[in-house]
Amino acid sequence: MRLAKHLAHAGVASRRAAEVLIAEGRVLVDGAVVTDPARDVTGTERIQVDGERIGSGPMVRAVYAVHKPAGVISSVSDTHGRATVVDLMRGTSAAQARRLYPVGRLDVDTTGLLLLTDDGDLAHQLTHPKFEVPKTYIATIRGRMRPETARRLARGVMLDDGLTLPAEVRLKDPVTVELTLREGRKRQVRRMLEAVGHPVRNLRRVRFGPLELGTLAEGRVRRLTPAEVQALRDAAAGVGGRRT
Ligand code: URA
Repeated sequence: MRLAKHLAHAGVASRRAAEVLIAEGRVLVDGAVVTDPARDVTGTERIQVDGERIGSGPMVRAVYAVHKPAGVISSVSDTHGRATVVDLMRGTSAAQARRLYPVGRLDVDTTGLLLLTDDGDLAHQLTHPKFEVPKTYIATIRGRMRPETARRLARGVMLDDGLTLPAEVRLKDPVTVELTLREGRKRQVRRMLEAVGHPVRNLRRVRFGPLELGTLAEGRVRRLTPAEVQALRDAAAGVGGRRT
C-alpha cells in the first residue's frame, strides 16, 4: 500500500494531508525520512510522524488546551473566512497530523479555555447533557451586582428556553462574577446575566471540569498530559461524584 494511503488508514490525516506531511519530511519509515508519498509499505515497518509511532493500531488520541482569543471562532472552518481555533493549532507540528475538533463551543467574543481532540467519544461524553462537566466562567458586567442578585442567579433564572439549573455563583467584586454551570446552552452566561440586568462586558472560561486555564497565554496551545486526559475521562464518566 502507498505510504500516504497507509497513514490515512491509520487515522493520521486525510490522504491529501498525509501527502503533505510526507513531502515536508515529517514521516520516517524504519528510521529514515521518506518524502515520496507513493513509497510502498507493507504495514510491518516502524512508521513515525513527527516522532510519534503509528501503525501498531490507531494513534493514541490527543487532547489539547487552547486559550481562545476574542474574534476567533470555535468551529473547524468558517464560511466568512474568520480565524478558527483549528488555525491556532497550525503552529504545533504534532497537532497538524491530526483531525482535531473543538469540544463544545465558546462564543466568538468569549475568551479562555477550549479543548480540542481527535477522540470523538471523549468529546461526545464531555458535551453530552447527561454527563455535562462543570465549567467556570468569569464575567465582567455592566452595573454593580448586589449579593441577592448573585443568589438569584445561583438558584436559577428563567430564560426563553426554560429555567437554568442551580449554579455556583461568586461575586468577586460588584462588577466581576464567577459562575460555574453544569449545562451548556447557547450563550447561556450572557443570557443569564442579561436576564438579571447585568449584560456582559467580558467573558472568559477559566475551568473545564478538572482542568484550569492557568497561565496558558492567549492564543497558545498545549497538549494535555496523560494524567490530565485521564482526569477528563473520569469527569466525563462521573467518577468521584459530581462536583461544582
Ligand atoms: N456562555 C456564554 O454566554 N458564552 C460562551 O461562550 C460560553 C458560555
